[in-house]
Order: sequence, then structure tokens, then C-alpha cells
Amino acid sequence: MDVPAAQSAFREDLLSGKTAIVTGASRGIGAAIAHRLCEAGANVVLCSRSAESVEQIADTLTRKGYTAFSTAADISEKADVESLIEKTMEQFSHIDILVNNAGITRDTLIMRLKDEDWDAVLQTNLTGTMYCTRAVLRPMIRQRSGRIINISSVVGLSGNAGQANYAAAKAGIIGLTKATAKEVGTRGITVNAIAPGFITTDMTAQISEKHQKQLVELIPLREFGHPEDVADAVCFLASDAARYITGQTLQVDGGMVM
Ligand SMILES: NC(=O)c1ccc[n+]([C@@H]2O[C@H](COP(=O)([O-])OP(=O)(O)OC[C@H]3O[C@@H](n4cnc5c(N)ncnc54)[C@H](OP(=O)(O)O)[C@@H]3O)[C@@H](O)[C@H]2O)c1
Repeated sequence: MDVPAAQSAFREDLLSGKTAIVTGASRGIGAAIAHRLCEAGANVVLCSRSAESVEQIADTLTRKGYTAFSTAADISEKADVESLIEKTMEQFSHIDILVNNAGITRDTLIMRLKDEDWDAVLQTNLTGTMYCTRAVLRPMIRQRSGRIINISSVVGLSGNAGQANYAAAKAGIIGLTKATAKEVGTRGITVNAIAPGFITTDMTAQISEKHQKQLVELIPLREFGHPEDVADAVCFLASDAARYITGQTLQVDGGMVM
């Protein structure tokens, strides 16, 4: 498992008693978010399409003494999302934090973009985020509290050649974040987005070494981020320290886009 090397900067009771769902938690940024939320004291439900990989991460967390459960769920399927929320409610009877992290890429130039690659990326990255948000709002509105954190991308702000589908979905997430924040603010629920830059995971491992070197030159902090850099921003937005922040997009990109 991709266990964070750096120590958590947060107190272990920061989120104690809270229940969090992290989508796409079987590797990369999602696994790091699940780990950091556990370190901050939350009970965490991890999901991804592959039952086996997400179970491995949850088992590692459980062995460390944290409360972590895994379940297979494809967020692009409405029925899977509803069952994820139901199972979490059965287990914990409240959901305090939702981290919409699951995402895919199908990169190509727009002239060559196949309808199925447009549909797959929009369905998972944007519609899946909407399904999870809509489903979790019922319990959160009843509780009159909740934190929704959507993982967008700087590409949703700046655009990126070869990623029309991905950039459109990630920009859509920012609009979804703002609209939802306006609708549910009076119910004690905050909704924010995080826009990571280049973070070292399986997703960015697809970029050639030559291109990675060129990209680093565009980053003022001159390195790719770590999954834990995004996870720390999630912990902050999930905590009471962020109680007066909603509808915002926090860039975790080493200054790449400004
Ligand atoms: N890495 C970066 O540089 C970067 C930059 C900006 C934004 N992001 C965003 O950060 C998020 C995580 O990225 P990552 O780099 O950690 O990606 P990753 O290593 O490819 O991991 C993606 C995760 O999402 C899960 N997933 C994919 N489709 C799913 C679905 N339909 N339902 C449920 N789970 C699904 C995958 O598990 P299964 O395959 O088992 O389903 C996996 O756990 C994504 O939203 C990505 O767009 C990443």
C-alpha cells in the first residue's frame, strides 16, 4: 500500500467520531486521503470498482488500529452509489465527510476523441461526483452538518491539450461545487473543491520521463506533489478550521497555475 511517508501535521483527534467516505480509495490520492482521515481520527469507508484492491488498503489501515471499511462501488452507477451510502449509514448511522476522489482519464486530441471516451470520463468524473453528492445530502441535511470535498484538477481551470473530456469534467466539478455550496449552506453543509496539479500516482506515471521534466519546469516549487499533499488539504477542509469556507477551489499545485 501507498502509505504516506511524511508525518501527518494534524492532531489525531481532529476528526474523531466523524464518518468519512472516500471514493477511488484503492490507490494514489484516494488511498492517501483515507489514510490521513484515519490518522485524524475519522472512521473511513473506502470504495473503488475493484473489491480486492480497496480491501487491501482497508486491511492495512485496520491493522494499524484505525476503523476502516471497504466496499466495491462503481460511482458511475447510480445503484452502486445508493448502496454505498446505505451501507455506510447502516454501519455508522451518520456521514460527516464525503470525498469525491474517484476519477479516470482517456486522453487524446479532440479531433480523435471517440464518443465513448467522452462519455466514460464525463460519466465517472462528473456524473459520478453528482450521484455521490446527491445521495449523501439526504443524511447530511437531516444532521444539519456535513463536508463535501470534490477532487477537481488544475486542468479544469487552465485546460490542457489532449484532455478535452477530462478538463470539461473537472471544470464541471467546480461548477457543481459552487452550485451545491449555494444550495446547502443554510443546512450547515460546506462544499469545496481541491484542484491538484501534477501529483505522483499511477495516473501521472503514464506521462513520459521527457514530458515530466518539461512539466517540472512549469512548477514554481519545481517538483510534482505527493498524494499526501492533497490529503492534507482534504483534512483541513474537513475540519472545524475550515467552517467558514464554502464554494471554493483550493489549488494544490506547487504554484503551477495562477
Ligand atoms: N495524479 C494527478 O496528478 C492528479 C491531478 C489532478 C487531479 N487528480 C484527480 O485526483 C483523483 C485521484 O487521482 P489518482 O492520480 O490517485 O488516480 P489513480 O491512481 O488512477 O486512482 C484512481 C482511483 O479511482 C478509482 N476509480 C476509478 N473509476 C472509478 C469508478 N467508476 N468508481 C469508483 N472508483 C473508481 C480507482 O480504482 P478502481 O480502478 O479499482 O475503480 C482508483 O482507486 C482523480 O479524480 C484525478 O482526476 C489527479
